Amino acid sequence: MKNLFLSLIVMMSLSHAFAQNLEQWMTKQEAASWEKLLKNLSPADTKKGAVIASPQRKDPDYFFHWVRDAALVMDVLMTSSRETPNQNLNQKIEDYIQFSLYLQEQATLTDLGEPKYHVDGTSFNGPWGRPQNDSPALRALYLVRHTQFLLDRGVSASKLTHLYRNELPARSLIKRDLEYVAHHWTEAGFDLWEEVKGAHFYTLMVTRQSLLEGAELARRLGDTGAADHYSWQSVLVENRLQDFIQDGHFVTTLDRVEGVHYKDSNLDTCILLAFLHVGNKGAFKISDVRLVRSMQLLEEAFNRVYPLNQRGLKATALGRYPEDTYYGGNPWILTTLAAAEYEYRLAQQTGKFAFLKKGDEYMERVQFHARADGALAEQWDRNSGYHVSADELTWSHASFITAMRERKAALKKVRH
Ligand code: NOJ
Ligand code: NOJ
Repeated sequence: MKNLFLSLIVMMSLSHAFAQNLEQWMTKQEAASWEKLLKNLSPADTKKGAVIASPQRKDPDYFFHWVRDAALVMDVLMTSSRETPNQNLNQKIEDYIQFSLYLQEQATLTDLGEPKYHVDGTSFNGPWGRPQNDSPALRALYLVRHTQFLLDRGVSASKLTHLYRNELPARSLIKRDLEYVAHHWTEAGFDLWEEVKGAHFYTLMVTRQSLLEGAELARRLGDTGAADHYSWQSVLVENRLQDFIQDGHFVTTLDRVEGVHYKDSNLDTCILLAFLHVGNKGAFKISDVRLVRSMQLLEEAFNRVYPLNQRGLKATALGRYPEDTYYGGNPWILTTLAAAEYEYRLAQQTGKFAFLKKGDEYMERVQFHARADGALAEQWDRNSGYHVSADELTWSHASFITAMRERKAALKKVRH
């Protein structure tokens, strides 16, 4: 009895020590992620405002400005500058806006559906999976939110005409993207992983959101005709999204035209990314049971295919999709961090500690594979857990910061 009691005490203090250690590591990693993320904005040899996907220039060469990665990364800056005004961040946001206006002027192979550009802002015309229509939708969505914030703060619309202007053909940043998205969403395009051409849940989710929130901004700025058009298109996209509900979960791609053909499960962690990237006003709620089911199926599959999930840690390391072969097919850091963020959002909604705890288990997984210098690559080797593929992936660092933001919000809501 006494022994049992003693070992209980030891166990409790051990797990407490581990939790403390996790907190300490998270604080350190968050600071490192900010530093490393900022380093990837307009680095040497790039035009001001460029966001490189990673400084790595070979095997793989990620020294490009991807419109999707840049939008997600800049949303982290924009959200943060809205919470705490910061002149340095504001300047970087302005640089990104100017750079994006420059990109929109380039002649490209697929208009604004072009996924990536050279770091000097010229178009990339080599072979690639294009168009990727989530890109202009994401860029528009986060800039719409930022413009709404500036208007709320009393900035005059006449100072924001480079962002939105009631004029056709459109020459302002947001309106150009919205016009493109509103007129092309029914066409087949490549998915966010740049591999499959078809209709995609992720792309349509961010498309719907950009049109919906874009319509609100257009209306606010007196562009009524456009507002009606965007808003009507957003309803049509929402209807289309219903087709992706199958067997009680969401599927990722329909009507495949070309590209990777072996995604038999049609399960993909980008289902979750879609929910996270559109936020609380999305077409479906974060607590959606079909998302719960999708996540269960994904975890089962990733536990089967990744040997590192078969030992030790509680939380599953998640990849893009079970059949993935890119760099051998591995768990990804940003998708595992997305799972943490998901749990933290559920914790906020329900006030339940269990979700917070599960979120922390994913964070322990990230900590377990972490490097002492705070570097985050794109993937972990499925056997050894070592970082592989592009190093210092900007999007990985952005994902760490957003997971932490949701964790802090969760801590305020959870009943202990
Ligand atoms: C590069 C893409 O960025 C990546 O997502 C894809 O898996 C590989 N090409 C293989 O097609
Ligand atoms: C490959 C990923 O599949 C894609 O989503 C990303 O945009 C690029 N790498 C750049 O990070």
